[in-house]
Amino acid sequence: MNVLETRDLHHDFSGLKVLFGVNLQVREGERHAVIGPNGAGKTTLFNTITGTYHPSGGDVFYKEKKITGYKPHELVRIGIGRSFQITSTFTRLTAFENIRLAILSKHGIRFNLFRNVNKMKEVTEETEAMLERVNLIGERDIPAGMLSYGKSRALEISMAMATDPELVLLDEFAAGMSRDETHNAVELIRKMTTGKTVVIIEHDMDVVFSLADKITVLHYGKILATGTPDEIRRNPDVKDAYLGDLEV
Ligand SMILES: Nc1ncnc2c1ncn2[C@@H]1O[C@H](COP(=O)(O)OP(=O)(O)O)[C@@H](O)[C@H]1O
Ligand SMILES: [Mg+2]
Repeated sequence: MNVLETRDLHHDFSGLKVLFGVNLQVREGERHAVIGPNGAGKTTLFNTITGTYHPSGGDVFYKEKKITGYKPHELVRIGIGRSFQITSTFTRLTAFENIRLAILSKHGIRFNLFRNVNKMKEVTEETEAMLERVNLIGERDIPAGMLSYGKSRALEISMAMATDPELVLLDEFAAGMSRDETHNAVELIRKMTTGKTVVIIEHDMDVVFSLADKITVLHYGKILATGTPDEIRRNPDVKDAYLGDLEV
């Protein structure tokens, strides 16, 4: 089954055409990377899938159900999580508080309406468990804005996973990381997304080829190729257009 599918997806920004009929297919359990040069339309593709923008044409399907135009919070409720290219934690809240907010959003509870003590205990326990999974116990009470870059991205991934999504979209989680941080991030993604369907946008080809079992190449808003890492590596169109002389 395709967990995620776009059919003839188009998008433009007041006349600037960015996506031209994208047909993306992501199978259940796949770790699917979307690669392509800067400006290819990768983030716009995520934004039209996840309700930030309404596509100017075409449709989005989640497990064969049409979800075009769903709002981000509706997507969370049906099992879709995402992270953003730009860090999007609440900088003044602690790591604990950030994760708790994400967990509360899963329960559909607004914090200020939150009065049920038993539920509060459950949410606190879930938050602590998530801090542990993501190796942020030591940073529990540190404001997100004071975390190292790698740790703040880890926090963000944990927030995307806190809603327990079946499908998670990660936009350039390793961008700007050091080698060590990147290595840790790849391990973290692997651990956090076991059994999930994952779509990642990624520039770092080491990350792409070590994580992905399927790759889609986006070029000027169109899919140039889709295939296994080996197929993509060998694809002459991809080499010409994008990978060039890179040793991948
Ligand atoms: N909000 C926006 N308004 C206008 N143009 C945009 C906006 N977001 C992206 N673009 C343009 O759309 C194109 C694709 O951008 P983007 O999807 O961010 O590419 P990528 O993530 O592949 O680098 C670029 O030309 C970019 O300048
Ligand atoms: Mg982008």
